[in-house]
Amino acid sequence: MNMLKNKKLIIANWKMNPETLKEARGLFLGIKKHAGTKRKVQTIVCPPNIFLSSLSSLCVGNKVSLGGQNIFWKNKGSFTGEIGPSQLKSIGANYVILGHSERRSMGETDEMINRKLKISQKEKLIPILCIGEHDRDSHGEYLHFLRNQITLAFEKIKSKDIQNIIVAYEPIWAIGKVGDDAINSEKLHETILFIRRVISDLFNKNIAMKVVIIYGGSVEPNNAEELLKNGGVSGFLVGHASLNKDSFGEIIEIANTVK
Ligand code: PGA
Repeated sequence: MNMLKNKKLIIANWKMNPETLKEARGLFLGIKKHAGTKRKVQTIVCPPNIFLSSLSSLCVGNKVSLGGQNIFWKNKGSFTGEIGPSQLKSIGANYVILGHSERRSMGETDEMINRKLKISQKEKLIPILCIGEHDRDSHGEYLHFLRNQITLAFEKIKSKDIQNIIVAYEPIWAIGKVGDDAINSEKLHETILFIRRVISDLFNKNIAMKVVIIYGGSVEPNNAEELLKNGGVSGFLVGHASLNKDSFGEIIEIANTVK
């Protein structure tokens, strides 16, 4: 994880896109070209699981790493349709997105996410834990919501393991819009400080300062620089803009040059 500390993390969440393996390979190669020369950025692509194996054969040289979008909390067994962490690792993926709001809205609970977090730690898969409120109310209820999500996700996680988790703050109201509708850098910074405060209350200040926190929600080339410069995050989880190699390439380029 030390390696991640010194680099910006730009993570593509392709969700259930694109439609064919051919398109997936083309997009991946396009992204790889952009990522290839950027030394200050770790680029990670999380495609649909079915494309992982084929893309992993294009991964030579570690310019781009691979991640899954979900796992089950056991390594094998009678769980039709699920994928275990050791299966994901065995085809060359080192990361996994957990608790994305689109999965939570399909019924994934905090308890399930906590179980997935624990097994990914055990199997040395780096989890990208998504948290984020539905709305921002003026009374600050959303802060309780966030505190609760973090507390439940980290239940019985050892403090030494917290620094091997990437936290992705993804406010649901900002997902799938355009760059101008994303959070602004000031609000983002405040929220990141709050997240560190919660982690500090659960563990300690030292751990809270070390945990890697990124942002997701309508990151596009036009807001990436400001959010990275002043938002207090060390990278992005990028949805729709990661489906266009040039837009995603621009975000990688910005991350490589921002101080
Ligand atoms: P978006 O998606 O960039 O399209 O808003 C982000 C996400 O859902 O991870």
